[in-house]
Amino acid sequence: MVSRKPFVGGNWKMNLHTSEAHALARAVANSCNTPAVDVAVFPAFPYLVEVSTVLQGQPNPGVLLGAQDFYPAANGAFTGEVSLSMLQDHGVAAVLVGHSERRHIIGEPETLINDKVQAGLEAGMEVILCIGEKLEQREAGKTDAINAAQLAYGLAGVKPEQMARLTVAYEPVWAIGTGKTATPQDAQAAHAACREVIASLFNGKIAQSTRIQYGGSVKGSNAAELFAQPDIDGGLIGGASLKSDEFLTIVQAAAARSEKG
Ligand code: 13P
Repeated sequence: MVSRKPFVGGNWKMNLHTSEAHALARAVANSCNTPAVDVAVFPAFPYLVEVSTVLQGQPNPGVLLGAQDFYPAANGAFTGEVSLSMLQDHGVAAVLVGHSERRHIIGEPETLINDKVQAGLEAGMEVILCIGEKLEQREAGKTDAINAAQLAYGLAGVKPEQMARLTVAYEPVWAIGTGKTATPQDAQAAHAACREVIASLFNGKIAQSTRIQYGGSVKGSNAAELFAQPDIDGGLIGGASLKSDEFLTIVQAAAARSEKG
């Protein structure tokens, strides 16, 4: 069995201002810094520099700085957009792609999501590809088909050797910000099916080493039972990542799984 290091991300979304972002970054850097778990935070664009400054002072292994979005062109006439090299200028090492709020609220199409996955990997970033079904799709029994299609579109053109920097975040849309979490059994079943899809797109070895996070109303109180599932390799956390003590409990739950092997 391949052991995958758990990965926990705090997606701060469109929340917090300077002083709150500074305080949260400090608390996370001081308390969530463990070699057993990869930890990243994803502040809103205006606070990346502030958070980067805070994180630079921390000991190894360090909390990774991530961005919630970017545009997959090097530079040029793309009003309102931000490039990967601009983010890297400020120490950003990870990016989210295909988050359900970008797919379903902003209307990002699969072609753009795939362009972003490829550009992020080409630039040397850690890329988290977010996928997941809507409630009506789950109720129609289409969860695995939706995840398979989003994986196939999102990972098209990705080279096998780039998959080491690719994490999948399975975030059922109905569980995001609703307080409704997938049961550990349902989440495990979806993760195992995603791993089979990755095996069919690449190979079994890559499928076994690719980390698949769960996201959707993860809290300190439910993280341990989710992360105890064999195919759940940590989480992508929204609301609960805004409170340092909750986030720390979630990171500790991931560390406990890591220690168990
Ligand atoms: P919540 O944890 O607030 O449900 O959000 C999950 C999410 O969308 C993380 O990207």
